[in-house]
Amino acid sequence: MRVIVENDLAKIGQLAGEQIVDALLETASPVLGLATGSSPLPIYAYLRGLHKEGKLDLSDVRAFALDEYIGIAADHPERYRNVLCAEMVWDDATGLKEENLTTPDALADDPQAACEEYEAAIVASGGVDVQILGIGTDGHIAFNEPGGSLRSFTHIDNLTEQTISDNARFFDGDLSKVPTQCITQGLDTIMRAKKLVMVVNGANKAEAVYQTVCGPVSAMWPSTVLQFHRDITIYCDEAAASKLPESMYTRNK
Ligand code: F6R
Repeated sequence: MRVIVENDLAKIGQLAGEQIVDALLETASPVLGLATGSSPLPIYAYLRGLHKEGKLDLSDVRAFALDEYIGIAADHPERYRNVLCAEMVWDDATGLKEENLTTPDALADDPQAACEEYEAAIVASGGVDVQILGIGTDGHIAFNEPGGSLRSFTHIDNLTEQTISDNARFFDGDLSKVPTQCITQGLDTIMRAKKLVMVVNGANKAEAVYQTVCGPVSAMWPSTVLQFHRDITIYCDEAAASKLPESMYTRNK
């Protein structure tokens, strides 16, 4: 586990973005794992910038999302498929094609079958080469909330009250508008990605970062399973790193 501390979010986007581009260039049929939420936005901005300058084209890249809300309308701007299209696909953002972006089909009549199909689609793609991650204040990654299995596959999960409250900012601050269920990649699904790149910022994430890096591995802090991953880099700002012993991170110079 490598932890890099950098306070400039645009710089974090660049550092993480460079690592992601390098990983995609290493493989003939690259597969990119996308996260939503606010943390990865600087990465997407960096990738869009490269594309605009003609230095990056993701037209041969396939992408998978980490998760999707259940019970959100197809055209809702906070539907994760729409968020990712707006960041990475529409208006030729990065060259990534809409048909190459797969997201869990949370509108399916049979969401359980949709989970199994999603897991199978990731396996059939050859697996994710590089997965972008954020982290919840309660230590969730994707929407693997505390108390779930550390070996889970794509499944239906319930958002905790903490996550609903954290995500209300995307729904006019109205708790009642936040979906309460989702389809999410499991922890085992995420752990099979070849490389993981996590972005974290803010003091409200400091305990989650501390537990992820230093805590005992426990289903109560799902992100602690990442301690077993062979290739993970966590980029965080000073505030998010504030509970870490100095020996656990490197400051970007
Ligand atoms: C979203 C996701 C979540 C977020 C987490 C942090 O696809 O998988 O785990 O990464 O909730 O969200 P932000 O970045 O908005 O604080």
